[in-house]
Amino acid sequence: MASVARPWWQRAVLYQVYVRSFADSDEDGVGDLRGIADRLDYLEWLGADAVWLSPVTVSPDKDWGYDVADYIGVQPAFGGLPALDELVAQAARRDIRVIVDIVPNHTSDRHPWFEESRVSRDSPRRDWYVWADPKPDGSPPNNWRGAFGGGRAWTLDERTGQYYLHNFLPEQPDLNWWNDDVRAAFDDILRFWLDRGIAGFRIDVAHGIVKDRELRDNPDPAISTYNANREDVHDVLRRWRRVVDEYAPERVLLGETWVMELDRLARFYGSGDDELHLAFNFPFTFSDLDAGRLRGIVEATEAALPERAWPVWMLSNHDIVRFPTRMAGGDERKARAALFLLMTLRGTPVLYYGDELGMPQADVPAEQQRDMDGRDGARTPLPWNGGWSDPWLPVAADVPPVAVQRDDDGSFLNFARSLIAQRRANPDLVDGAYESLPSPEGVWAFRRGERTTVAVNLSDEGVELDGLRLRPWEGVAQRR
Ligand code: NOJ
Repeated sequence: MASVARPWWQRAVLYQVYVRSFADSDEDGVGDLRGIADRLDYLEWLGADAVWLSPVTVSPDKDWGYDVADYIGVQPAFGGLPALDELVAQAARRDIRVIVDIVPNHTSDRHPWFEESRVSRDSPRRDWYVWADPKPDGSPPNNWRGAFGGGRAWTLDERTGQYYLHNFLPEQPDLNWWNDDVRAAFDDILRFWLDRGIAGFRIDVAHGIVKDRELRDNPDPAISTYNANREDVHDVLRRWRRVVDEYAPERVLLGETWVMELDRLARFYGSGDDELHLAFNFPFTFSDLDAGRLRGIVEATEAALPERAWPVWMLSNHDIVRFPTRMAGGDERKARAALFLLMTLRGTPVLYYGDELGMPQADVPAEQQRDMDGRDGARTPLPWNGGWSDPWLPVAADVPPVAVQRDDDGSFLNFARSLIAQRRANPDLVDGAYESLPSPEGVWAFRRGERTTVAVNLSDEGVELDGLRLRPWEGVAQRR
């Protein structure tokens, strides 16, 4: 059967670069955009088709870029806008695309919009954020909780006597997505980046930007019924899709859809081509490395997604414990099995920098931690050859560096690279439908497309399946 030509973001292997920790070109201890440009040969050698950059926009870094003070300016420490333009141009020459992070849920409290908004109750910018009166006893307007900073979602602004909403830190005030001017401002921001040749956006908190208009109490204070997960968010995503659809070649919307129910996840694809192109699948990411459980999640995802929708899979990111530690408990065989799955499932795989090295979660001593939420262990500098001078976080010593792994045929890095190559060389793995196959306990077998059979042994026993011998934690993909 002739296969339809798939758009680039369905064929691609994506690679998340945590900019501060990827490569440092000016030896100030903080990674930068030139550093990434200098390492494009590595990304090309590995087989990455696109990089997603963690936020590069101007930020006071209370939440490491996720508190934006200027949506169309690039952080000077990363090299500013010229360095980004240069990276995009150099990457394009190697056919590597650049996706940027966008943070629409909240700004920094240093953003001029917020500074203007907080001046007075009748500031023209007042309604760009979510302001509300205290209850008669002076307490916050409702029972919503924030993710950071002791769990408060409201901070009283003394000057005007009202509270403002922040689902994250008090320094991250939430924008009011009921305001049409906010929506229009973001259309312009998207266009600014799209016009510069950016290949798309990873959308921060994509499920949560619209809040209940009446600010109702959450029935269960532990569940964000009204301060996230509103149906109305889909209007915004459809609007964004219409904006990016104006551009050619095709651009991509990749949502951080942090929802644990797969039918809810599926809704972010709209009718299959009018909302997000890709919606991160956290139930998969947080699963144990268990054949039955993983198969269940993948089957349910395949069943829930609309016809034209395309899955996306990842094992690690900058917010969670790195997968060789979390999923594989430090056992390299298990980490290889997990990576094998990432590269053989139907859908776009996303590697987090260091995943290709089998890099475990780093143990960052308390006095060297920088993140208010303790996530530093997943954000340490990539060990190229030990070469970081005075890095902002310690370089972890418990993984062989890139330079050593490149020269070792049996290394995790060469294993990762060969999986990517195998995927690229086999159209079934890129393109083919997914179909579960019967398999003994501890083993997960499936067909991809017409001719490829995949089996992975997620157990400590060797098994035989249709004449195929699988060692413990071994995966095999065969094209007949
Ligand atoms: C999700 C981001 O990935 C995380 O790093 C950040 O702290 C929150 N959103 C708030 O922006």
